[in-house]
Amino acid sequence: MIRRCCSRSLQATAVGARLLYTASYAHPASLSHQPRTASFGFREVPEEEKERLVGNVFTSVASKYDLMNDIMSGGLHRLWKDRLVSKLRPFPGMQHLDVAGGTGDVAFRVLDAVYRCEQSGILKKSLDLEADDETRVHVCDINPAMLEVGKSRAKEKGLGKAKSLVWVEGDAEALCYNDNTFDGYTIAFGIRNVTHIDKVLSESYRVLRRGGHFLCLELSHVENPIFKQLYDFYSFSIIPSIGDLVANDKNSYQYLVESIRKFPRQEDFALMIRQAGFQKVDYENLVGGVVAIHSGYKL
Ligand SMILES: C[S@@+](CC[C@H](N)C(=O)[O-])C[C@H]1O[C@@H](n2cnc3c(N)ncnc32)[C@H](O)[C@@H]1O
Repeated sequence: MIRRCCSRSLQATAVGARLLYTASYAHPASLSHQPRTASFGFREVPEEEKERLVGNVFTSVASKYDLMNDIMSGGLHRLWKDRLVSKLRPFPGMQHLDVAGGTGDVAFRVLDAVYRCEQSGILKKSLDLEADDETRVHVCDINPAMLEVGKSRAKEKGLGKAKSLVWVEGDAEALCYNDNTFDGYTIAFGIRNVTHIDKVLSESYRVLRRGGHFLCLELSHVENPIFKQLYDFYSFSIIPSIGDLVANDKNSYQYLVESIRKFPRQEDFALMIRQAGFQKVDYENLVGGVVAIHSGYKL
């Protein structure tokens, strides 16, 4: 079953938060009644349009999404996600939220790490075995097609009925969870696709408990000029063609590579995370900045 975020009071809070955001960050365009825009790859589109366009991308590629990830990254995305989860240090009884969780790759790893933690005896007596029954990993994504693929994968892994895995259709910008709910929050290759990064960050801060860990894995910026030339060639000349061949969808993968270039650079994104309230913010570049893992704590 996929739960839908539809709590009225929470939506009211989200609307309130939106109004507050609009009031305090009013863009000059809004004062002159011009429509606000957001980048969809290299195109500027009205903000309301971006969510629909991104939705079309992921609905179109959902069934081939995991295969494409393996082909495009040569399997490296698996190691990047492993690294993300090793930084999270999952533990039995953990309440975790994986936002933009798509087909479940990160959530499966978090659960796997919890089980391994138990088997290796890290589970302390004081936690006892019931702690594992209380472990919850929520996969929250705005796109039902991606979640459906994730649920099928869960069944294949024997996790179809696992209480510890919860599938939720919801928006990263207006999460349907109470304040101070989670020990951990991850977002992998998701934040680049949202309309308002600041709202996603402030929502992640809100739902984390004190001491909670925020982690973001995202395609980022390569500094080395020679490597950058190679990477740009691969991105713009090869990836869209692979998308065409494998997923029959060149445009979605053209959007993917463009959206990476529009995403804030590592230092700028770290600053945004700090501005959302997180502390001890840092980041790690992998493969020369092809991807970066940003980390911060709610203290
Ligand atoms: C590139 S996929 C990443 C999926 C998964 N995290 C992974 O690493 O394989 C991006 C995901 O972000 C989701 N997404 C985009 N905008 C969102 C939003 N506002 N709220 C929640 N999910 C969103 C898409 O539906 C898609 O599943």
